[in-house]
Amino acid sequence: MPEKNEFYEVEFIDMTHDGMGVCRIDGFPVFVPKALKGEKGIIKLTKVNTNLGFGRLMEIQHKSPFRKEPICDHYSECGGCNLMHMDYSMQLDFMKYRTAETLRKLGKISTKVNDTVGMINPYYYRNKAVIPFGEENGKMIAGLYKSRSHDIIDMKKCYIIPKITTDIVKFLKNIFIELNIPAYNESLGTGVIRHVIVRNSYKFDDISVTIVTLTPKLPKKDLIIQRLVSRYKRVVSVIHNHNSENTNIVLGKKSKVLFGDDFIRDEINGVLFKVSHRSFYQVNPQQTESLYKKAIEYAELTPNDIVIDAYCGIGTIALSVAKDCKSVLGVEVVKQAISDADENALANNITNAKFKVGKAEEVIKTWSNYDIDVLFVDPPRKGCEPAFLETIAEMKIPRIVYISCNVATLARDLNYLQSQGYEVQEVTPFDMFPQTSHIEVVTKIRYKGQE
Ligand SMILES: C[S@@+](CC[C@H](N)C(=O)[O-])C[C@H]1O[C@@H](n2cnc3c(N)ncnc32)[C@H](O)[C@@H]1O
Repeated sequence: MPEKNEFYEVEFIDMTHDGMGVCRIDGFPVFVPKALKGEKGIIKLTKVNTNLGFGRLMEIQHKSPFRKEPICDHYSECGGCNLMHMDYSMQLDFMKYRTAETLRKLGKISTKVNDTVGMINPYYYRNKAVIPFGEENGKMIAGLYKSRSHDIIDMKKCYIIPKITTDIVKFLKNIFIELNIPAYNESLGTGVIRHVIVRNSYKFDDISVTIVTLTPKLPKKDLIIQRLVSRYKRVVSVIHNHNSENTNIVLGKKSKVLFGDDFIRDEINGVLFKVSHRSFYQVNPQQTESLYKKAIEYAELTPNDIVIDAYCGIGTIALSVAKDCKSVLGVEVVKQAISDADENALANNITNAKFKVGKAEEVIKTWSNYDIDVLFVDPPRKGCEPAFLETIAEMKIPRIVYISCNVATLARDLNYLQSQGYEVQEVTPFDMFPQTSHIEVVTKIRYKGQE
């Protein structure tokens, strides 16, 4: 059995789903961050569990031709990106391979997996940044968390969020310092500023800023707003959110608009959207347009189709397909998102889309007698509830398009659907989060009936 803190000469033979190199020491598997398949080097064993270990890459003796110098100075410690040392073409291949392997191993599904759809410029793409504030040696800091910790890196530059977002965060940090408003101290439960959230529109200039505080009030709020909005004319919405809970959940229950509206405007594939600060909205708008086009292609919609958009958020998929079908029903658990969806339907003169607040697994039962032709399903990382899948299997919906941000839960859900007479016909991975190992996948599924 290999020993902790010892050094070993190894060869990397595979990669984990989260981009770590896999090597073996006398058959014992060890995972090493920032090592690439095909490389040889020396590692220090940092952790040994019963079945596997973790190591740190100390020296590379044989470099992969796909290794790349990361462009970000924070990369070695930051938890934001984990594939920046990998050439972009290899990142895309890695995602295709991971998708196929996970579907095969966890879902027992062998299907056509297309090449990953990547970005021409895979940087500065995130339209939303959630930035924690803290203190280091008595000085306020703001940035991303270090990998696997709640220690904050004082951000100088970030290559996956727009430059203006970094500027706004730094600008606010300087104002807070000047006005003597302290950052939240997570271990003591004291201070004021917990997070700043910046959301940018892709098609409009709109930017919204949400300031989350531990205290019910944001001290000197008028001065802060006045300085922020006179410096950044694109800021059309400033929200104060109060979160006094000792929790990792960023937003507290109470929010107040301090300036402008509680939304930014955006457009996806020609449909207008209002996005309020609490609603889910895809973080990479450019890739979202391609992803939805692929989802619509997989649905093979006809004008008489009755469609469901389950886990619909602010109705982005439902409203994108409304013109191509007879009617569409959306369901989503967040009330504010459904009220955005209703307003978005109105603003786009769409009258054949109806939205309902509730849990998809409960609301779908109330629709089980409808003759549904197509189901779009886009759940959170944990995938679909068994009750939801059971109902759609009973309904025998002929065409399903499953959009997933977690291939492992997708594989589990597809395995169930396959056992219920569905065929997984094709899968396309999308790189929605370049420089990270997260994969988004669109799947084409058809009901073939039980054998
Ligand atoms: C991955 S997002 C997809 C949103 C939307 N389709 C889009 O592309 O913007 C998943 C959505 O599911 C919602 N959600 C989570 N659990 C749910 C449940 N049990 N029933 C309905 N919606 C749920 C979340 O609030 C979130 O808006």
